[in-house]
Amino acid sequence: MDFALIGGTGMDHLSLDRKKDITVDTPYGAVSLQTGEISGVEMVFLRRHGSGHTVPPHRINYRGNIWALKKLGVRKILATGAVGSIYPDYRIGDIVLVDQFLDFTKNRPQTFFDGGERGVLHVDVSEPYCPDLRKTILFGAQSIGVEVKTAGVYVCTEGPRFETPAEIKMYSILGGHLVGMTGVPEVVLARELGICYAAVALVTNEAAGISKQPLTHAEVTATMNMLGITAAKLINSTCRHLTKEQYCYCLTGGTEAGLF
Ligand code: HPA
Repeated sequence: MDFALIGGTGMDHLSLDRKKDITVDTPYGAVSLQTGEISGVEMVFLRRHGSGHTVPPHRINYRGNIWALKKLGVRKILATGAVGSIYPDYRIGDIVLVDQFLDFTKNRPQTFFDGGERGVLHVDVSEPYCPDLRKTILFGAQSIGVEVKTAGVYVCTEGPRFETPAEIKMYSILGGHLVGMTGVPEVVLARELGICYAAVALVTNEAAGISKQPLTHAEVTATMNMLGITAAKLINSTCRHLTKEQYCYCLTGGTEAGLF
């Protein structure tokens, strides 16, 4: 299996042909996935929050998930995630191909290289999201006339609560554009194992304090259900343009950056 889709909130209904449920054993526990086809392309599908959205962001088995994909031979990961907008140019319903992140998570294992047998690795994340895979998604979007914003700084919070308006103001001052709870360490772990990774952020709401209304999960899910349809079209189109070659830096970037 060369390609995987990690689907966040609202992507539960993405249809996979020839669907099969499988379980992969990893050093971090067993991971449940599906294999199948999207647009005739063989894909692994991982529901980030489990089936029926039962796993909160801080309890996701990020290491198990990425390890399982690597074990299946995956070279490229497309990921989707719901986000709130911090920045006025990004509006509800927009789709953003993020290109940088700010990490405000607090309590998540961040690496496969915890010392011991596997050593210590200081992975390079100058360009955290694969530039080639981002281009493929952009091409997928253009070929079906879906508008995609081509850059954005993703702020990852620990959750599961939403942010205070003061936090959102701080993230804005620091250069954040979008806020979500699941993008990190997923993107970093993929780089550590040499897998290309790109994330499509789906703007479901205005972040706290920007919106005059209190934030609710129901608002996020309702917008996401609508956006999910466009996102599924985008994923379908992107799959048609995927190639398994990795000419980018992602494949070697992990270990070249400094394995001790
Ligand atoms: N904050 C954090 N995570 C989110 C939000 C938000 O406003 N919307 C969707 N996921």
